[in-house]
Amino acid sequence: MMIAPSLLSADFSNLRDEIALIENSGAKWLHLDIMDGHFVPNITFGPDLIKKIRPHSKLFFDCHLMIEHPEKYINDFKKAGVDLISVQVETCVHLDRVLSQIKEQGMMTGVVLNPSTPLSSIEWVLDKVHLVLIMTVNPGFGGQKFIHSMINKIMDLKMMIINKNVDVLIQVDGGVCLDNAKLIKDAGADILVAGSAVFGAEDISKAYIDLEKAIK
Ligand code: DX5
Ligand code: ZN
Repeated sequence: MMIAPSLLSADFSNLRDEIALIENSGAKWLHLDIMDGHFVPNITFGPDLIKKIRPHSKLFFDCHLMIEHPEKYINDFKKAGVDLISVQVETCVHLDRVLSQIKEQGMMTGVVLNPSTPLSSIEWVLDKVHLVLIMTVNPGFGGQKFIHSMINKIMDLKMMIINKNVDVLIQVDGGVCLDNAKLIKDAGADILVAGSAVFGAEDISKAYIDLEKAIK
């Protein structure tokens, strides 16, 4: 069980220091939210920024693509130093092919579902992914409210993974906070993404450590 702080809520004028803060607090993963202003209404950053921060951190770079035509950019993110790429199932007509492309580039694979997207959409790629990310807000912005009905979706995914006898991690992203972290863990999640609850806090280290305590 682990927390992956999302850089989206960090102070971008002070990235190096803020990344060091979570790394020194014990974080192992850094969640990188890539938005294109088409698939989601917001625009964030791309491979160039990741390439700049890569030499300053040993964290595992977990890259969440919220972009149309992700297949065009897999190689750029690989070159930037990303360790895992998750693609939104809604952006991939040929999901199986895109996952193979990520794997062939030597990265770990993930697939993401919007709150309204059914689990059946990923049933036949479950043997090709290292993680499934359940969105618990509609992607696009940090600081939104957790959609409570997603607890059942996480539990259903856990059952699906057990029934198919595959080794797949469950990641949860959106609205994770001190009040709901334990509930999400108990539903079956392995990795909790937290943006505003960590990087958005006054004291980033304390927020990370408190959230860790809440899930233990
Ligand atoms: C939302 C992003 C999230 C975001 C989460 O579209 O995918 O990773 O950073 O932010 P919080 O934790 O504030 O909901
Ligand atoms: Zn994300």
